[in-house]
Amino acid sequence: MTQQETRTLWWEGGLDGVCKMIEQTKLPGTLEIIDVTTQEEMWDAIKRLAVRGAPAIGVSAAIGTVLGIRSSAASDRAAFLEDLEATTDYLATSRPTAVNLFWGLDRMTRVAHATPADMSVPDLKQHLLDEAITIWNEDRAICRALGKHGHPLLAPGEAALTHCNAGGLATADYGTALAVFFAAQEAGKEFSVFADETRPLNQGSRLTAWELHNRGIDVTLICDNMAGQVMKEGRIHKVFVGSDRIAANGDACNKIGTYSVSVLAKAHGVPFYVVAPTSTFDMTLADGSLIPIEQRDPDEIRRGYSGINAPADVKVYNPAFDVTPHENIAGIVTEFGVIENPDTEKVRKHFIENGVIAEERV
Ligand code: MRU
Repeated sequence: MTQQETRTLWWEGGLDGVCKMIEQTKLPGTLEIIDVTTQEEMWDAIKRLAVRGAPAIGVSAAIGTVLGIRSSAASDRAAFLEDLEATTDYLATSRPTAVNLFWGLDRMTRVAHATPADMSVPDLKQHLLDEAITIWNEDRAICRALGKHGHPLLAPGEAALTHCNAGGLATADYGTALAVFFAAQEAGKEFSVFADETRPLNQGSRLTAWELHNRGIDVTLICDNMAGQVMKEGRIHKVFVGSDRIAANGDACNKIGTYSVSVLAKAHGVPFYVVAPTSTFDMTLADGSLIPIEQRDPDEIRRGYSGINAPADVKVYNPAFDVTPHENIAGIVTEFGVIENPDTEKVRKHFIENGVIAEERV
């Protein structure tokens, strides 16, 4: 079974149903679908990267909220809203960097509070399930819009570099940065892709190479420390990456190593693009220095998912993300179009022009 024949995560059944998801830690060796039935299981799935990637985490937050509140014993609205807050507060502690997590939790909270005051608790629960499914459907549509706006940036015959996994596995389906490649393929364009391995957890080699290869896209895997040489050889014409959180000035946080790629791209005159939905912007943060960077288990570097890479007790520093300054970014592709040479003014204008001004995000 390939990923094309399944989905990253989805809901099956009614309110007593189940969240199904690909267990991403086992890819590419095993394609296993797991059941997630409680908020604790969803918290764990997010924490240990069974589900990962910013938009997929946002969808997981919404579904996790449903898993939490469906067993609420509250008999009135006020008690139910208290239970809802306990669930969203709990899920918010799973991972700190991808803003889509908090976006999903905020949206579920806002939607619950916006219901008529006389809505019954069972109806409130059903309403939140409907909203989670809406978020899932919206994510799929947004990814296709990202591909549509992004693929004209990749000219026929060009080769692109990508880092980490911003594909179908990082979203409900289809992807952000990889949507550019899927849309280019659907448009019949000839192109090729270099995928960085993306240490320490190898989302590039385990997930991106798998997705692109499955879809018949010409993909070449390289180690992270090879990107500079491959650019120097003139083999990379564009860089496309996703993002976990974009500040109001366009500084974009993504998987550790992305910043280095942006510096290399600048040095070699290679345009560097970020592809992300507007739900990945955090307009409350003026610049990228304010984005919280997740620190992860040292054993991810010492041992990874398989085997021994280093002495068991060697000291380790393991920041999971870094921030690319907006000066290194040629454009940010959103579901509404491209923000060229992004800065605070251009991001603000893009949001206003497209009606995003975010009672949602600001
Ligand atoms: O730690 P991960 O695997 O969740 O990191 C994911 C990334 O950094 C992705 O590039 C980012 O979320 C964009 S996903 C469309």
